Amino acid sequence: MKANTKIFGCIADPVNHVKAPTLFTKIFQEKKVNAIMIPINVSSNDLEYFFSGIKSIKNFVGMTVTIPHKTNVLKYCDHLEKEAIDTQSVNWIKIENQKLIGTNFDGIGFVNGLKSENLSLEKKDFAIFGIGGAGASICYSLIRSKVKRLKLINRNFNKLNLLANKLKNLKSNTEILIDDFRDYDISEYDYVINATSLGLKDNKDLIFDVKKTKSDCTIVDIVMDPEETILIKEAIRHRRNYHLGKNMLISQIKLAGNFFKLW
Ligand SMILES: NC(=O)c1ccc[n+]([C@@H]2O[C@H](COP(=O)([O-])OP(=O)(O)OC[C@H]3O[C@@H](n4cnc5c(N)ncnc54)[C@H](OP(=O)(O)O)[C@@H]3O)[C@@H](O)[C@H]2O)c1
Repeated sequence: MKANTKIFGCIADPVNHVKAPTLFTKIFQEKKVNAIMIPINVSSNDLEYFFSGIKSIKNFVGMTVTIPHKTNVLKYCDHLEKEAIDTQSVNWIKIENQKLIGTNFDGIGFVNGLKSENLSLEKKDFAIFGIGGAGASICYSLIRSKVKRLKLINRNFNKLNLLANKLKNLKSNTEILIDDFRDYDISEYDYVINATSLGLKDNKDLIFDVKKTKSDCTIVDIVMDPEETILIKEAIRHRRNYHLGKNMLISQIKLAGNFFKLW
């Protein structure tokens, strides 16, 4: 580290599970960018205080935002890019002239992650469990990628209906469906995604029954701690294809570099 090293943050509460600081600091070194990313544990109640202070730190250039702050930070941003407005969720913020500019790369990171493993999306059928910040963002990006059908499943049904109606109002060619959280049909889907926090760290709850998917289905888990989640283990056990959550974060490296004009 040097005196003029740029500082990036990764804000979360709790902060123990975050992977971005290790990954991005390594990338900065590899790409010879004079910067580091530090984990910052800030509680929701202290966000206003945090943002008013951080804006005036001249060598603090921005941050990635994770659970539980992706929605809460919206009101502190001076400008929101389209993806953040659509999803009402922010996962990257840059500071320019003491102004906070928020965007969201979760959805496009997810899509690019699939493409990085040569998986095709166009005209495919997707089912997604969980439509929180990341899940909603993924839905918008899947529609933009012209998938054929998108089925949304979520524990909170009001939230589910609200998002489904917003997505239907986009008037895309993607058919939008919803299903019951407990009594769901995922038997005809090419991809079934876990975008809930189930399976994170020590949690061993399965969000859906892998046996209910077709034999050539690809099971995708966006949870990446552990790298091989309980759901992915189930996918392997039942001989399904699978796609790991780390791909979604790795593909955000390029996007973040462009956003901060680093590479
Ligand atoms: N791979 C990556 O790059 C990447 C990026 C972002 C996030 N993630 C991971 O994705 C997960 C979700 O993140 P997020 O930002 O979308 O979180 P979030 O906004 O808090 O949303 C959480 C989602 O999980 C559902 N959920 C939580 N507990 C549940 C339970 N016990 N049973 C059923 N559903 C439950 C919620 O349903 P309700 O609406 O019913 O509450 C909601 O849909 C986290 O584990 C996070 O680490 C990974």
